[in-house]
Amino acid sequence: PTRKGWWMHQLFQYQGFWLSAFGIRGIMLVHDHFKPRPTDIIVATSPKCGTTWLKALVFSIINRDSYDFSDHPLSKASHQDLMILLELHIHGSGSTSLVDGLASPRVISTHIPYSLFPERMTEGSSPCRFVYLCRDPKDVLVSKWHFSNKVRPEELPPLTLDEAFESFCQGVSHEGPFWDHVLGYWKASLESPEKVLFFKYEDVKKQPWGCVRKVAEFLGVPFSEEEENKGVVGEIVKLCSFEKMSSLDVNKRDTRNRERPVSNSDFFRKGEVRDWVNHLSPQMAEKLDQITEQKLQGTGLSFH
Ligand code: A3P
Repeated sequence: PTRKGWWMHQLFQYQGFWLSAFGIRGIMLVHDHFKPRPTDIIVATSPKCGTTWLKALVFSIINRDSYDFSDHPLSKASHQDLMILLELHIHGSGSTSLVDGLASPRVISTHIPYSLFPERMTEGSSPCRFVYLCRDPKDVLVSKWHFSNKVRPEELPPLTLDEAFESFCQGVSHEGPFWDHVLGYWKASLESPEKVLFFKYEDVKKQPWGCVRKVAEFLGVPFSEEEENKGVVGEIVKLCSFEKMSSLDVNKRDTRNRERPVSNSDFFRKGEVRDWVNHLSPQMAEKLDQITEQKLQGTGLSFH
C-alpha cells in the first residue's frame, strides 16, 4: 500500500518501514552490490536527528591527523559531498562505483533501518561499525516539519503542523515509524556494543567532549595524552558546533541545483534541545510522549 508522504515523496511500506522509492531501490542496491570494508564507519540516523552534526564529528575525529583545524575541509566543502548518504548516492548513480572509489576509511551516512541492511553488514563477523544518533521525537517532528516546508516545491501548499503530527504519530515518515528505527539500533548496540555505538542528541549537546572521546575509542583511535594536552578534542567540538558550521559560507549559500534540490543551508535551523515547546501544544506533546513511552517500555531506553 502507498500513502502520501509528508516530505513530498510517495512513501511505500517495505518490511515494516515507510520508505521512498529511492530509499527502497538504494537498499536493494546495497544488498546486491555494496562491498563493506573493515575500515568503514556507517553514521546512521533517522532523518532530522542530527545527521549533519554526527557526520562532521566522525569525519573530523577519524581524519584529525590529515588536516589543520584552521584550514579544514569541513570549513570549505559541502558536508553533502564529504560524507555521502549511501542510499541516495547509490540510487542516483545506479551503481556502487562512486562509493567503491572512496578512499578508506570511508565515513558513510545512512537512514537505512538496521534490520534492512544485508546480514553481511550486521552479523557478528562483519567488519562494519555503526555510530547512531537519535533524538527526542518531539524535536524530531518539529525539525522535520520545518525542513519539509523549506524544501517543498513552490507549487505545493505548506504542510500544516497538524498534518505533520498526525503522520508522524502513525509512523508515516521517511524511514518511520521513528521508534522502530531507533529501537533497531538500540537493541543492536546492546547485543553488539563493539559494532554499534548509540547516542542521543541531547546527551551530545550536554557533553560533546565525552561523546567525541567515546567515538574515538569505539573506532580504535583514542586520543593520546599529547592530543589531550594540545586541546584536540575541544578543536573538534568547536569545528563541528552548530554555531561554527551554520556560519560557514559553504553552509550559508544556496547550493541547490537540479541534481541536488536540498541546499547545504537547509540542514541548519536552530540546533537546540526542546525547541518543541515553541511549536507543539501540551496535548500534542503529551500524545507523543505516551506513544514513546509505550514503544520504549521495557527496552531501557527513554528520552526523559
Ligand atoms: P533543528 O531543525 O531542530 O534546528 P539532520 O542533520 O539529521 O538533517 O538534522 C538536522 C537537525 O540538526 C536540525 O535541527 C539542525 O539545526 C541540527 N543541526 C545541524 N547541524 C548541527 C550541529 N552542528 N550541531 C547541532 N545541531 C545541528
